[in-house]
Amino acid sequence: MKTAAIILAAGKGTRMYQGIKQNKQQLAFSVDTRQQKKQYMHVAGYPIVYYALKAFEQAGVDQLILVTGAEDVEYCRNEIVEKYHIERVTHILAGGKERYDSVMAGLEAVDPEVDYLLIHDGARPCVSRKVIERCLEDVQKYKTAVAAVPVKDTIKRGDQAGFAVDTPNRSELYQVQTPQTFALALIRQAYENMKQEKEAVGITDDAMVVERYTDTRIRLTEGDYRNIKVTTPEDLMLAEVFLSLKEQ
Ligand code: CTP
Ligand code: MG
Repeated sequence: MKTAAIILAAGKGTRMYQGIKQNKQQLAFSVDTRQQKKQYMHVAGYPIVYYALKAFEQAGVDQLILVTGAEDVEYCRNEIVEKYHIERVTHILAGGKERYDSVMAGLEAVDPEVDYLLIHDGARPCVSRKVIERCLEDVQKYKTAVAAVPVKDTIKRGDQAGFAVDTPNRSELYQVQTPQTFALALIRQAYENMKQEKEAVGITDDAMVVERYTDTRIRLTEGDYRNIKVTTPEDLMLAEVFLSLKEQ
C-alpha cells in the first residue's frame, strides 16, 4: 500500500492575525508571533506546520506534499523542510485562493502509484499517529476516512437576526477534522467533477467535494479532541499545552 499526504499551508491566517491585533494581552505566553501567518508561528519550539509534516512522516506515509503561498515556498524549503530534515517531502508548491484550489495544486504532484491520499490542514499540529493510522485502516475498507469527533456542545442553527431557528439532535452531530483520507482515484474524480461544474460555492473541506460530486459515502473515523485547528489566538494556547505534553 502506497500513501501520500498533502499538507495545506497556503492560507492567510486572517482570523488569527485580526485576533492578535485586536487583543494583544491574550498572548501572554511563549508563542513567537513574529511570523504573521499562523502556520509558521513557533509553538513549543517549532513552527506549527512542522508538527504535521513530522507526524505524517513518523506514521510512515510515503510521500509528503507541502502546499504553501507562492511567496513562502523558499522559506518553507529552507526554514522548515531542510532545517528539520523532513525527508519524505517531495514537493513544496504554491497553493491557490481557496482551500480547494490549494488541494488541486497538491493533487497534481501526487505520485500516480499512490493508493491512498491523506489531506491535512497544516494548521492542525496536534494530529497524532493513532488518528493517521485509524484513517489509513478505514480508508482501505470504505474508500473514505475523515477524522471526526462527536460534538460536546449543543449546537443551534441561527438566523440573520440572531435568533435560534432550531436545535439539531446532538447525538447525530460530529465535528469534522483532518486528515481526510481517500482512495486516490476517488478524490481525483471528485475534484475533476467539481471543476466541470464550476460551482464550488461553500466548499470548506474535501469530504464535501466527495459528497457533492460522487456517490461515495464519507466514513467518519474516530479523531481526537486534541486535534484542534489553530484558528484564533486562544487556539495557540491550547496547541502550546497539547504539543508540550506530546512525546516527540
Ligand atoms: N489553506 C490553504 N489554501 C487556502 C486556504 C487555506 O492551503 N487558500 C489551508 C490553511 O493554511 C490551513 C487550512 O487550509 O492549514 C485550513 O484553513 P483555515 O484554518 O481557514 O486557515 P486560513 O485560511 O489561513 O485562515 P483564515 O480563514 O482565518 O484566513
Ligand atoms: Mg480559511
